[in-house]
Amino acid sequence: MIHFNPQTRTFNLLLHTSYYAFQVDDQEQPVHLGWGVRPDAAAADDRLSGETVYEQYDPPWSFITQFRPDELLTFGDVTSYGVTLKASFPTLPQPLAAGEHLHLPIRDLRLRYVGYEVVTDAQPGLAPTHGLPTGVSSPRETLRVLLRDPVQPFQAIVCYRLTPEHDIIERWLELENLGRETVTLDVCHFASLHLPNGTTELTYVAGTWAREFMTARQRLPMGTQVIESRSVQTSHNSNPFFFLNQPGQAWEEGGTVYFGALAYSGSWRISFEQLPTWDIRVHGGYNPFDFHLALTPGERHITPAFVTGVSNDGWGGASRRLHAFTQERILPVSAAYPSWRPVLYNSWEATYFNLSYENQVALARKAAAIGVELFCVDDGWFGGRRHDRAGLGDWVVSQDVFPNGLEQLVAEVHRLGMKFGLWVEPEMVNPDSDLYRQHPEWVLHFPSRPRTESRNQLILDFGREEVIAYIFTLLDELVTRYAVSFFKWDMNRLATEPGSVVGQAIWRQHTAGVYSLMDRLRQKHPGLDIQSCSGGGGRIDLGILGRTDQVWVSDNTDAFDRTRIQEGFSLTYPARTMEAWVTHEHNHITQRVTPLALRFDVAMRGVLGIGASLNELSEAELQQYASYITFYKQIRPVIQGGILYRLQRVEEWGASIVQYVLPDGSQAVYSLVIHQHQVGSYRPNPPLRGLQLKANYTVTDRRGHEIHRATGYELMTLGLPRELGEFGGYSRTLHIRAVTFSSSL
Ligand code: GLA
Repeated sequence: MIHFNPQTRTFNLLLHTSYYAFQVDDQEQPVHLGWGVRPDAAAADDRLSGETVYEQYDPPWSFITQFRPDELLTFGDVTSYGVTLKASFPTLPQPLAAGEHLHLPIRDLRLRYVGYEVVTDAQPGLAPTHGLPTGVSSPRETLRVLLRDPVQPFQAIVCYRLTPEHDIIERWLELENLGRETVTLDVCHFASLHLPNGTTELTYVAGTWAREFMTARQRLPMGTQVIESRSVQTSHNSNPFFFLNQPGQAWEEGGTVYFGALAYSGSWRISFEQLPTWDIRVHGGYNPFDFHLALTPGERHITPAFVTGVSNDGWGGASRRLHAFTQERILPVSAAYPSWRPVLYNSWEATYFNLSYENQVALARKAAAIGVELFCVDDGWFGGRRHDRAGLGDWVVSQDVFPNGLEQLVAEVHRLGMKFGLWVEPEMVNPDSDLYRQHPEWVLHFPSRPRTESRNQLILDFGREEVIAYIFTLLDELVTRYAVSFFKWDMNRLATEPGSVVGQAIWRQHTAGVYSLMDRLRQKHPGLDIQSCSGGGGRIDLGILGRTDQVWVSDNTDAFDRTRIQEGFSLTYPARTMEAWVTHEHNHITQRVTPLALRFDVAMRGVLGIGASLNELSEAELQQYASYITFYKQIRPVIQGGILYRLQRVEEWGASIVQYVLPDGSQAVYSLVIHQHQVGSYRPNPPLRGLQLKANYTVTDRRGHEIHRATGYELMTLGLPRELGEFGGYSRTLHIRAVTFSSSL
């Protein structure tokens, strides 16, 4: 709910358990008042909170205006600290005495309040255009606050879209050049946030290829800390989200936690500033590194959204809010799989580049027999792609691999009752390809400079419309001709020499081009699903999730490593987007040997996939796979549609326990993975969450054997009996179901 008090010019944004307030001061400047958790009793009464005027709360700022917490910080009002926007204007010639004019380039932007409106149809920049629905589509209120420069012909609309049930405010800017000359933006964040002083404990993720999403927690320094991507994808090294809380005042299930995530997959930056006054500011948006955004006369630019919120129940509460928001408001509802994601088979680790009709069809038959629902042929099916040195860009089925065409395999996959998927990497080209031989100028490069290859490939220049049109035609033909239901959309290198026909705008236009390709394909082929992959987890964010169904989190499928990777991923992204494969006993990346139970127990925490070479498994092993897949299909609605609780985290106890529970508490899944256990030491026995207190529950193992019975109250106080968690193995997945359940309890 959005309230405005015309006397005090106070804006009061009310969400389920939180509030956000700012006020227009006597200099026509919208100044931040506060953001946080509402008192419990007030949360039940929006009128009481909404009519609050905050009359006696002049924001504290010293005679140095640099500290004033403006809702939109501009270079002009602020020069010493970070800003939301910095603009360069054409010179305003000033007459001098001798008939000459002074030409002084101007880099000063002041934005002052003009008015506001509340609308229900506003959209941030780069919103999906594929036309597929989201899980929930009820209208939401957006507050649009119009600011204009009193001297320069430039305006900004500061947008706040509320999703009250998840305490989430999406923030973005709509910028417009009202003049007759081009204005350039040198810094353009989507929003700047003001957090209470002392909110200095930062949780984020860091890593690299095959070690993505490592959770890091540390105190903000005085000054600035930055997380960022300087490429045309989201990054393996970092991910555009954060949690912030007062040190010692928040933990997994308690305390006030601020959070934010960018809905954008390009070159981004989130910077955290602790001012000398201890004020905390967070700026999130386009990375100012090599940034340049030109607005021609009359041109508008709408930034993507900075999704922000506040949790009153710890890091877990922040995660659950982001999960629900993503599921309900961001993910498209797949036409093929509206309820949950299918069990997938992917051939990469089984056959790498040695594809043949025979080995793929043999894999498909075995995959169908063990219960797989979607069969995806990975790299190596097209052009001259018999290794990673050739073929990218030539998206035509290779006669060498499929002499009778791909149709034969597709028909068999369909006959077996599975859908058919293909790996593609549409943004790339190998120099050894027909496409590159025809169009060497179509790649990012600077003339007479090296074209540095990475994995023997170059990036296509998505600043060129003809390149995007060309790629669209090829992908469109593939989907139509081979009834492709699923693309694993890969992106395997970082940008180096980012030379493009659109200059520095390529940082944004590459992402816009990828989004437009995906949106157009899905619009034309509503039955097509997409998985985002970028050498593992390099392109995962709330922007790409608006047009994809799931993501590949890491090339590292080692179950132990994966537990940590998945834990970091779960901070922001929901389990139903997390593709996770069971691969070989002997892991190809880490060389570690792990038992099948552990590999399944870890992969079943998300969207189960199989990546092992089924052609090399015995009948008995295939039977085991089949029985796990049957079990997964039983618990899948709880994992993919449930609410997640991280009951125990690896970093604290050497064990990871996660629980998924349906919103009505009728079913739960308890998943335990032990990394380290010392004899005679006992980890705490975590109480379960979200169950119905009075209902009776049975606890069954994957074979359906009942191993425990208890009431919801018992499970939510003592947890599961210790012996169920200390059974001598590495891992366990249990299904908890109410046998006498009353939804009115
Ligand atoms: C990337 C992906 C892998 C696989 C290969 C194929 O590394 O992350 O899963 O698809 O490309 O070349």
